[in-house]
Amino acid sequence: MKTVSKLSGSLFGRRQKGLHRDPGFPEISGQGYLQTLVEIVTARQANWYLEIGSRSGTSLSKIGCNFIAIDPEFQIRNPVFQRAQKMHFFQMTSDEFFADDFLATTGITPDVAFIDGMHHFEFALRDFLNCEATMGPDGVIVLHDVCPSTAAMASRDLTELNAKRAWTGDVWKVVAALMDHRPDLEIHVLDAAKTGLCVIHGLNPDSRILRDNLPEIIAQYIDVDIGSVGPAWYYDRITIKPSHGFAARLAVSPKPD
Ligand SMILES: C[S@@+](CC[C@H](N)C(=O)[O-])C[C@H]1O[C@@H](n2cnc3c(N)ncnc32)[C@H](O)[C@@H]1O
Repeated sequence: MKTVSKLSGSLFGRRQKGLHRDPGFPEISGQGYLQTLVEIVTARQANWYLEIGSRSGTSLSKIGCNFIAIDPEFQIRNPVFQRAQKMHFFQMTSDEFFADDFLATTGITPDVAFIDGMHHFEFALRDFLNCEATMGPDGVIVLHDVCPSTAAMASRDLTELNAKRAWTGDVWKVVAALMDHRPDLEIHVLDAAKTGLCVIHGLNPDSRILRDNLPEIIAQYIDVDIGSVGPAWYYDRITIKPSHGFAARLAVSPKPD
C-alpha cells in the first residue's frame, strides 16, 4: 500500500492542460480556480484565510490577507511571503491541526477557508466540518476538485495514480453529502477550471449534524464509484454555475479599521 507521503509527488502532481472527459461528464472550463478564489477572498474583505493543502504555495502566494497554511509536506516554491502580514505554517495533517485547537487558543476566526488537502471523501468532509466549527456564520468555505471529468480521476485507488494524471479523488461526495444532510447551507458548484470549486456559506458553527452522524454519512457514500453508477448520479443533482463574476454576490462592505 502506497502512503500519502511516498505519493506526494505524483498524487498532487501538476495538472495537464485540457483534461480528457469521459462521456456524460460536464466540461469544466470557466474562469480558473485561482482567480475565482482570490476574488472570493477579496469580496469577503477577509482578514484571515485558512488553507488546507498548500504544496508549493501556488494558491497561497495569491492571497493578500493574513493566513494559516496547513500541509504535512510543504514544498514552497512561490512567493508566499510577499503579501500577507501575519502567517502561520503548520507542517502536519489537517486532522492534527484541528486537534491542536490553535484557532480557539489564539482567537483567530478564519473568514475564508480553502480545502485542497487529502482528496478522499472522508478527509475532505472532516476538513469541512472542522473548518465550519472554527468559523463564524459569515465565513465562506471553498472546496476544490468537486467536478471530476473522468471516472479514473475520481478513483480512491492510490495505486492507480500517476504524475501525468489530474486527481480529484472523491471530494465530489462532500457536495452530495452536504446537499443531503445540510440543507441549511448555501452550496454553489462553480465551473472553475479545471476541476471545479464548491463555495459554501450560510455556515452554522454550532451544527452537530455532520459530527454526530459522521460514520453513517461516510458509509452512505464511500463505496459509490462514479464510473459504476454513472456521472448522472451526481451531475444531475447539481447546477454548475459560472465562476466568472460569482464572487460579487459574496461582497461585503469594507470593515472599519
Ligand atoms: C493539490 S495540493 C494543494 C495545491 C494548492 N492548494 C494550490 O492550489 O496551489 C494538495 C496538498 O495537500 C497536502 N495534503 C495531503 N494530505 C493532507 C492532509 N491530511 N492534511 C493537509 N494537507 C494534506 C499534500 O501534501 C499536497 O501538498
